[in-house]
Amino acid sequence: MTFQSMLAPVAEDMRRVDELIAARLESDVALVRKVAEYLVAAGGKRLRPALLLLACGALGYRGEARLTAAAVIEFIHTATLLHDDVVDESRLRRRAPTANAAFGNAASVLVGDFLYSRSFQMMVQLDDMRVMRALADATNIIAAGEVLQLMGSHDPQVDEARYLEVIRRKTAKLFEAAARLGAVLARSAPELEDGLARYGAHVGTAFQLIDDVLDYSGDEAAIGKHLGDDLAEGKPTLPLIHALRSGDATEQAVVRQAIVAGGRADFGAVLGAIRRCGSLEYARSAARREAAAAAAALEPLPPSDFKRSLLELASFSVVRQT
Ligand code: IPE
Ligand code: IPE
Ligand code: MG
Ligand code: MG
Repeated sequence: MTFQSMLAPVAEDMRRVDELIAARLESDVALVRKVAEYLVAAGGKRLRPALLLLACGALGYRGEARLTAAAVIEFIHTATLLHDDVVDESRLRRRAPTANAAFGNAASVLVGDFLYSRSFQMMVQLDDMRVMRALADATNIIAAGEVLQLMGSHDPQVDEARYLEVIRRKTAKLFEAAARLGAVLARSAPELEDGLARYGAHVGTAFQLIDDVLDYSGDEAAIGKHLGDDLAEGKPTLPLIHALRSGDATEQAVVRQAIVAGGRADFGAVLGAIRRCGSLEYARSAARREAAAAAAALEPLPPSDFKRSLLELASFSVVRQT
């Protein structure tokens, strides 16, 4: 099963969402268009809008509002990336220099604000209070999640529970909102909405667990980002937390020192320590459990090609190399 075949049931919808995204980047301020189009043109997997559209399909909803809602979700995601790359001082995304590398931090932050506020304009057009509530809540929780993460940077005391709290907020919440919106738009029964929301939250958690594994062990050409960005920022992600808990005294000292100091100088030593401790495999098995919980949450949904793709998306979030 390829990425393309996974998204085949919504391929035509995704083309229309891409057109909508391009159309709604418009602004009479040239730099806004330039920065926003730069990041959008670089691509991206468009997983969150795909998830929303698959959820709509699985529930039999075909209304036009699904396309706007899908574009809104991708705009919010794009805004978080612009801000996140400034905060993380990242230089590469989607196989290209980040917007902050190409245009500077100020332009990235301001265009991120433009995209957030454009997404609000679009969601208001939908004129549906339940849609607005889900999106407003998710956006606010993501922002708080990024701040919570910032508070834990360079802190070797951050434990697994605190780490999971951060990733549930900063990443899983948008996946949850995307899946929930499918049910909200379809006016589904509460059990179905609840099941889809839990599916999204678990997929998003698995997705970020693997993102944090790939930051140590991925192929830069495939992920399109530099390895070691997390360590450079002193981010205590699960591989490091696991090594701090289970490594010998030398391994613990290497990892603790690297979290406190940040930077890239210790990357090789830290990678050696987390490999010896089995920490990447530990994080991967946590992701597999999340993906299994995501699949279980879909049980109330009737069988369909859309549902099959949602199940594949849960597996993809664990096995992905990109
Ligand atoms: C990157 O998300 C941010 C994380 C939550 C890890 P994606 O990996 O979905 O980014 P794009 O949109 O495909 O570039
Ligand atoms: C995800 O965390 C960021 C957001 C949810 C905005 P990361 O910082 O790990 O994402 P990447 O690796 O930069 O894409
Ligand atoms: Mg980042
Ligand atoms: Mg990352």
